[in-house]
Amino acid sequence: MVDVDSFIADAREEIAEEIGDANAVIALSGGVDSSTAAALAYDAIGDQLTPVYVDTGLMRKGETDQIRETFAYMDSLQIIDAKDRFLDALEGITDPEEKRHAIGEQFIREFETVAREVDADYLVQGTIYPDRIESEGTIKSHHNVGGLPEVVDFEGIVEPMRDLYKDEVREVARELDLDEIVAERMPFPGPGLAVRILGEVTEEKLGVAREANHVVEEELIEHEPWQALAAVIGKATGVKGDNRVHGWVVAVRSVESRDGMTARAQNVDWDTLQRIQSRITGENENVARVLYDVTHKPPATIEYE
Ligand code: XMP
Repeated sequence: MVDVDSFIADAREEIAEEIGDANAVIALSGGVDSSTAAALAYDAIGDQLTPVYVDTGLMRKGETDQIRETFAYMDSLQIIDAKDRFLDALEGITDPEEKRHAIGEQFIREFETVAREVDADYLVQGTIYPDRIESEGTIKSHHNVGGLPEVVDFEGIVEPMRDLYKDEVREVARELDLDEIVAERMPFPGPGLAVRILGEVTEEKLGVAREANHVVEEELIEHEPWQALAAVIGKATGVKGDNRVHGWVVAVRSVESRDGMTARAQNVDWDTLQRIQSRITGENENVARVLYDVTHKPPATIEYE
């Protein structure tokens, strides 16, 4: 474990030195990694940094408002509403890697526009150690690593947390007094709800996934999982009232982990699972079934795609 105080001091110094008088941008996702990197960088260079939050429509319920509140102190914050453009870019795509790619590409377009507007020479990223090793291998193309720097012509990329594990990032976030909600938040993938929807991403599936993820986070937070989620995995028959329906199947997953590289499915009690089931099926008449995923990683991954 790194010494948090000296890490923060060194990181600020490194950022200020590297960027000098130039302008920089950082993409905020609402997660603890980018939030912490943004807070570090803003402390180091102030409004020379433009934090950009792209509302992809694939984010958690209430995420945009949360960002607006948490980063209200940064005058240079930009929030881009790109929901419709992302849905268009994802239309007809069913392959998981193609999906990630389409999201990454659209993200770059949105981000590039702002980077040009503010004349940014530097890109700050909240990349952490596990992101790097997973990207170097062939496990998965994380859209927040690779891609961006190759397309946008930045003079430099600053990754102050490149050697940290997730639990170390959380310590740094707490030390920086980031909102408890952000610091303690479960990790959320860059491509967002898109990797919690099997097959094509549609507005309807997104609505189901968003609400179900909200229920799962609310109900499981006190069980302190490393990550808990809901995924829309298909359709099945059910009965609602007097009618047979062909409704959505939602899988619930809750895992314990240190860094996401391996994980154990959490032993969640029956009453909690039933409460989750009843809220998800009750709040959305198009959901026919809720399943609990008991698979560890490996062999399963944490996300569904
Ligand atoms: P998997 O599903 O690979 O997830 O077991 C491990 C951790 O990584 C997150 N994850 C992603 N994060 N872009 C991200 O930024 C991605 O494409 C992506 N895929 C998975 C996942 O939420 C978990 O914390």
